[in-house]
Amino acid sequence: MAFFKKKKSSDLSELTLPEHIGIIMDGNGRWAKKRMLPRSAGHSAGSKVFRTIARYCSDIGIKYLTVYAFSTENWKRPADEVTSLMKLFKDYLEEALRDFKDDSIVVRFIGDKSHFNKELQELMVENEESSKDRDGMVLNIAMNYGSRDELVRAVKSIAQDVKDDKLSVDDIDEQAVSDRLYTAHQPDPDLIIRPSGEYRISNFMLWQAAYTEFVIMNKLWPDFTTDDLDEAIRLYNQRNRRFGGV
Ligand code: FPP
Repeated sequence: MAFFKKKKSSDLSELTLPEHIGIIMDGNGRWAKKRMLPRSAGHSAGSKVFRTIARYCSDIGIKYLTVYAFSTENWKRPADEVTSLMKLFKDYLEEALRDFKDDSIVVRFIGDKSHFNKELQELMVENEESSKDRDGMVLNIAMNYGSRDELVRAVKSIAQDVKDDKLSVDDIDEQAVSDRLYTAHQPDPDLIIRPSGEYRISNFMLWQAAYTEFVIMNKLWPDFTTDDLDEAIRLYNQRNRRFGGV
């Protein structure tokens, strides 16, 4: 287990840091509605918070951060909302390429890129390529991600390998599945945070979250602060993780 590299907004230096944090960035729509603003304003505010929290996690020494930005189901939203989200993704991906050249963060995308327009797909690949040799936090941005879809792909890949005589049925084990997920070779999340008070997993890292600690917070994502992240880590430290043992 790693410890905090830096003392940040509150004194957490004695606490154990989760190696991998997942965040379901929920509540943008409700935040906007409360202010009589369009939902896109909530996403815009949420994307600023995403930048702050990603930077903070990297600064305090988190090794892996996975954020749920767009699910396989989110395409069902009104076209103008989807368009505004795509614009926010494009802005961030361009900004990351332009301004974060000396950064240590490794950017990865989990999900099926092929549904995005060509420009976004290219930006995703460029971000992955230009950051892959860095040595800092791995930032997984889940875009067009759905855990069931991820598992179906893993099952198909296993079936194909069996058909091609690359894998025997007896050798299919948990590792064989894990190795075929978007998060292959990464540790499972220790902590998943869901702001906005909803008690749902929403098709996020179903396999990887087998022993994850969940922290649900009554804050909408655009109101989420670094102090809230500290609080989630404090709550995580109070949990007694047994991984099925005693
Ligand atoms: C869920 O809130 C949030 C989303 C579907 C989008 C999350 C995206 C961002 C925070 C922008 C991230 C940007 C980058 C650059 C990665 P909701 O709209 O379902 O909220 P509601 O439940 O209150 O309606």
